[in-house]
Amino acid sequence: MSKLLKEVITRVERATDSIFRITVASEYISANAAPGQFVNIKCCDGAQALLRRPISICSVDRSKGEFDLYFQVKGAGTEILAGKKRGDTLDILGPLGRGFDLDIGYRRIAAVGGGIGIFPLLFLLDESKAVVKRSYLGFRSSGQVLLLEEFGERSTSLETATEDGSFGSKGFVTDLLERDIISEEFDMIYACGPYPMLRKISEIAGKHGARCQISMEQRMGCGFGACLTCACMTYTDDGSRHYVRVCSDGPVFNSEDVVFE
Ligand SMILES: Cc1cc2nc3c(=O)[nH]c(=O)nc-3n(C[C@H](O)[C@H](O)[C@H](O)COP(=O)(O)OP(=O)(O)OC[C@H]3O[C@@H](n4cnc5c(N)ncnc54)[C@H](O)[C@@H]3O)c2cc1C
Ligand code: FES
Repeated sequence: MSKLLKEVITRVERATDSIFRITVASEYISANAAPGQFVNIKCCDGAQALLRRPISICSVDRSKGEFDLYFQVKGAGTEILAGKKRGDTLDILGPLGRGFDLDIGYRRIAAVGGGIGIFPLLFLLDESKAVVKRSYLGFRSSGQVLLLEEFGERSTSLETATEDGSFGSKGFVTDLLERDIISEEFDMIYACGPYPMLRKISEIAGKHGARCQISMEQRMGCGFGACLTCACMTYTDDGSRHYVRVCSDGPVFNSEDVVFE
């Protein structure tokens, strides 16, 4: 169950030019959050305050009662968030959404992340009981690369790709998945990233009959199912199409259920 909470920030760090890490002390979120879930943060006051900003729960320290958020500064809300200091209070609603399915039977998994989509996968790797965990991370260029040590510690292998070739392989992270998908026989592929990346992964998984869960980064308003800003088209069992709400029906979906335009 999600709750409206006022929690204290225990750390603020700059991770790259435009990405910040915030650690929040919250017994409730750290005890109740599942990988793939997010919190909705009130960043601003006035009219802007009505729209909270959804940020994925990146990792949780249940023993300390803390969780980490990583976010990129994009507009007014995240700019204000980046200006928060240790000791400030954060107004959050969470944990929200339906996260990843971590069935105990998934022994060989792939975690594929692109850009800010890598963040929820760290929590996923922490909680997954799989014996083989292959991580594939994609970035635009070397300046955006982060969390390699953290992913390396939680994965049996880690590979990176950058679009300009300035770090890791040159190209898209989806190329790495496509190269390995047959030989690795993954029980489940987990992915989060920009829309074109998820569309490509969905295509690759479909072509090879692989199971895949994707976390959608949809534009959101309320974050709890009331406004329909986050509508996304999906297939029903009989092949017809209908809209679902990414914030409450997702953000994680089976890739074969999502209708990509
Ligand atoms: C489930 C989910 C998890 C996310 N997790 C992360 C994360 O871990 N780290 C991270 O850096 N970013 C994440 N995002 C994207 C992040 O929510 C947006 O970058 C942020 O809301 C932009 O707010 P802004 O005020 O800075 O920008 P503005 O563009 O000024 O935002 C204006 C409004 O649009 C909404 N909005 C804008 N872009 C997005 C977007 N991409 N997704 C959803 N709403 C948007 C905002 O909530 C706000 O209401 C996530 C998005 C979703 C849906
Ligand atoms: S953001 Fe309001 S219904 Fe999803």
